Amino acid sequence: MPKNRLVSKGCKLVGCGSAVPSLQVSNDDLAKIVETSDEWISVRTGIRNRRVLSGKESLTNLAAEAASRALEMAEVDPDDVDLVLLCTSTPEDLFGGAPQIPKALGCKNNPLAYDITAACSGFVLGLVSASCYIRGGGFRNVLVVGADSLSRFTDWTDRGTCILFGDAAGAVLLQACDIEEDGLFSFDLHSDGGGQRHLNAGIKRNDIDDVLGSNGSVLGFPPKQSSYSCIHMNGKEVFRFAVRVVPQTIESSLQKAGLNMSSIDWLLLHQANQRILDAVATRLEVPSERVISNLANYGNTSAASIPLALDEAVRSGKVKSGHTIVAAGFGAGLTWGSVILRWG
Ligand code: ACO
Repeated sequence: MPKNRLVSKGCKLVGCGSAVPSLQVSNDDLAKIVETSDEWISVRTGIRNRRVLSGKESLTNLAAEAASRALEMAEVDPDDVDLVLLCTSTPEDLFGGAPQIPKALGCKNNPLAYDITAACSGFVLGLVSASCYIRGGGFRNVLVVGADSLSRFTDWTDRGTCILFGDAAGAVLLQACDIEEDGLFSFDLHSDGGGQRHLNAGIKRNDIDDVLGSNGSVLGFPPKQSSYSCIHMNGKEVFRFAVRVVPQTIESSLQKAGLNMSSIDWLLLHQANQRILDAVATRLEVPSERVISNLANYGNTSAASIPLALDEAVRSGKVKSGHTIVAAGFGAGLTWGSVILRWG
């Protein structure tokens, strides 16, 4: 068989990295612009600070920085990367931001790079997609980057949403290995377009006014330039949705892998709200010491939240080589899913 046809390979996580903007915004800072308090935000969400892109900083640079750190940890040369998946719902180019990452990394082999849009579930979906490319497609080194700047689509006068979000990027390198070393045990992914009304940032309706009249006559041309509205969220519904579907998807992944929660070292959920993390952990009977949480410092960073929390946990020595992790994402779409993996 030709050398580059790697079929039925396994895949393993060999590196991670992250990057956050320099501007830190505390709950007290927010209390200066909307009617809220540090106490309300921290009790209801667990969030105390978040980072926000400012000045000359760009999401692309954050994503490239996170990716570069993941490559460094994995000791993989940028020229050996053959796929970059940028999981983001806030690209800096509507046509996709991913190709800017290999460009910034200096990859000379022009690897395939494209965006995956699935809001806060994006990273889990990206990880599973990467594993499919490796298992059957002959890809060897796949960078999965989660990066979002929800601050750009936040209504900073809406205290129900602006307290939740922050900007960040996180990345992992998934690498082909022998099937015996495979470190991605199972996954479970879903969507429900019917729930979109509870969480969205849609195109502005008045930007797509009818250009054609009912009799087919042209009323106005050219059409107005389109733009997107800020994030609209029914917090209570999203909360209920998360607490219902996340334990279900994790149970499903565990069953597919033939594992139970007691054999998993770490529960790593999308960092949306500490109360969601606590409710899911209670339902799955996971003690708080085995739940990874860093949302107090960063808030909800959408597709970046899981790789950012993973990177901190790996670099602080909490997550060690050989540990098993169940990671679950949930959010706009609605989308949700989980994956069971081994670190290292
Ligand atoms: N400060 C002070 N008071 C507030 C604030 C605030 N920032 N926000 C709302 N309130 C008030 C409300 O006006 C309401 O007052 P009222 O009782 O006088 O009407 C009261 O507090 C309770 O408001 P609720 O919205 O019912 O508060 P809740 O307990 O549901 O908490 C929250 C709101 C934190 C948003 C919660 O619903 C939540 O976290 N939901 C999940 C959101 C989420 O995780 N999204 C993730 C996906 S994001 C993505 O995918 C892009």
